[in-house]
Amino acid sequence: MTDLPEWSLPLCGCLLTTMDFDTESIEYAKQFPVEDTDVFVATFPKSGTTWMQHILSLVLNGGDLTPINTIPNWDRVPWMGSKRLAEIADQLKSPRALATHLLFAKMPPSFHTSKAKVIYVMRNPKDVLVSSYYFHQMACFLDNPRTFDEFFDNFLEGKVLYGKWTDHVKSWRRAGLEDRIMYITYEEMAQDLPASIRRVSDFLCCNLSEEVIQKIANSSSFKSMKANPMSNFSTVPKGHMDMDKSAFLRKGTPGDWKNHFSSEQLVRFTSVIHKELEGEDFSLPWSLE
Ligand code: A3P
Repeated sequence: MTDLPEWSLPLCGCLLTTMDFDTESIEYAKQFPVEDTDVFVATFPKSGTTWMQHILSLVLNGGDLTPINTIPNWDRVPWMGSKRLAEIADQLKSPRALATHLLFAKMPPSFHTSKAKVIYVMRNPKDVLVSSYYFHQMACFLDNPRTFDEFFDNFLEGKVLYGKWTDHVKSWRRAGLEDRIMYITYEEMAQDLPASIRRVSDFLCCNLSEEVIQKIANSSSFKSMKANPMSNFSTVPKGHMDMDKSAFLRKGTPGDWKNHFSSEQLVRFTSVIHKELEGEDFSLPWSLE
């Protein structure tokens, strides 16, 4: 890869941030002993990872609010391959929840031989692009995205965090993990949060009551999470994330792309994504037109 952005490290087949990852942390991840009871949230960035990290913490703890009110999300559901995982791995209690933006093939060998489960959250890529654009503005460790038009081109070319959206989706849709993986969309969560939490609970055989599901839904609403310092990134120094430029929990709704895409961009976006997914045996849950 040529002309790498300053913040990036070309590891694991994509661009990782030097702030969170280094060659040692990736080596550590390769040796990381995944347990059969582990549960991973896998996503392309800006697809609802933090949301699912929050929900997963609650579901695995039977609706107990203590972890989401006392532990920041990056320690509750740490990132596979991150420097932080190496520091806190010993403190995690089983069943552990972990997060990853890595491609399926780049997961550690022990993941592939384990029975660990995965919740793969997908979001309409047009909204992923918009959310990413604002994230690049507020995340001081990333390049300034400059104009929306320039960022739009970089996104389609995969010159953003974790590369191309289509490569990520293909990688996890082709994973062949059968009953070890559950696919859910951001839009499904936005449309019916209690039903989405029920799906997660059933997938993980947690057998939660309707009362607990409702409690988890209340605590996982956009409003609740935006007010929760353990989930809203407000404890991150301003030099890393500048919330005056854009909040991490920014808008929290499907469809913001309509406020940003020109008609020409919409046609181009749709054509590129469809071309890159040509021949795949899965279809997208949203129309891109
Ligand atoms: P927007 O920028 O569109 O608001 P990730 O955690 O993968 O980085 O994704 C961040 C996106 O998920 C942001 O989207 C953020 O607002 C949204 N999000 C996080 N928690 C949410 C919630 N409880 N309800 C709706 N959207 C949420």
